[in-house]
Amino acid sequence: MADSAQKPLLDVLLGNRRDPVPIWMMRQAGRHLPEYMELRSTAKNFLDFCYTPSLATEATLQPIQRYNMDGAILFADILLVLDALGQGVRFEKGVGPIVEPVSPGGRLNKVPVQTAKERLSPVYETVSRVKEKLDPSKTLIGFAGAPWTVALYAIEGRGGTDKNTARLWAHENPAGLDLLLDDLVEVTAHYMAAQVEAGADALMMFESWAEGLADDVFEQIVIEPNRKLVVRLRELGVTVPIIGFPRGAATMLPAYTDVTGVSAVGLDTAVSPAFVNRELPDHFPVQGHLDPLLLMAGGDKMERRVIELIDAYRDRPHIFNLGHGVLPTTPIKHVERVVELVRAQAAK
Ligand code: CP3
Repeated sequence: MADSAQKPLLDVLLGNRRDPVPIWMMRQAGRHLPEYMELRSTAKNFLDFCYTPSLATEATLQPIQRYNMDGAILFADILLVLDALGQGVRFEKGVGPIVEPVSPGGRLNKVPVQTAKERLSPVYETVSRVKEKLDPSKTLIGFAGAPWTVALYAIEGRGGTDKNTARLWAHENPAGLDLLLDDLVEVTAHYMAAQVEAGADALMMFESWAEGLADDVFEQIVIEPNRKLVVRLRELGVTVPIIGFPRGAATMLPAYTDVTGVSAVGLDTAVSPAFVNRELPDHFPVQGHLDPLLLMAGGDKMERRVIELIDAYRDRPHIFNLGHGVLPTTPIKHVERVVELVRAQAAK
């Protein structure tokens, strides 16, 4: 039997409709789960946690065990690539990530690509351990940050800024920014290809900070590097579906899906089903896009929106997800209710 026949989520990524629609949630692992908090307390720090295959494997599987999601997303972080490149990443409690900033004219190539790829071996070990334990009906999703989003952390040096230092590079130092993006395309392609070799069924590129860019800038720093990354992955022999997630793409969404070569697109909270259905080709698989704050609020309004989203995408391949990640104070009961509702919406 083809792998996709028994994996509903993978089947949708390959362009088929499934009923009920498969479901997973970005950041389904992590701080809203008490079992994650317990596991996390056994590690010295967050990076160590990500680089310890026994812990990362368990964290990947926790939301599958609790919610029976159709997809497991590898437990890791988009900033591991910068760490492997020697950019000195730390996660500080209450502050978030801190990265050694790259200066204008600088590069993200302190170490050769092959060395960076090898430093990330614990992640591949996690993928193969998860794959071994995962039920064959579940899809294992590998991921990385897309070039612009990762470059942004390297330029800003930390999370939680207004991001204007990085955005200004696109105007004042476009050639320098292109070099950083090219450095990241190459190392990220090798990193993602190694995840597939280890057993990932699909890949996702998190372009979480694509919002607020002018259309020409969006083309230069989001569309073009995402396209190059897809091309490079295919050159390296990767054949699995690739999900793009250009969060905040707004009216540039159709250009993104048209040009990059992604197999499916993750939709963000702000997009409307009417826009998506008007602007994207009929057969194009989408994943989205319940508001994480509505998931936190719960109740009738949440339930109506879940049904509305499923109905809106009945005629196209659709995976149920959020418009961004699960927030740490989200009640477990609300996540359980969404999973139950999505499964109950199968056409009679
Ligand atoms: O369940 C999953 O989604 C799998 C694991 C995953 C994490 N980060 C774990 C994590 C994934 C896919 C990511 C991606 C990621 N990391 C993104 C893109 C997606 C998004 O949310 O926009 C970004 C921008 C990052 C960078 C990052 N990592 C920040 C800004 C922070 C600090 C803020 C925060 O939420 O704590 C992290 C830390 C992080 N990554 C945690 C987890 C579970 C929290 C660490 C902890 O305290 O345990």
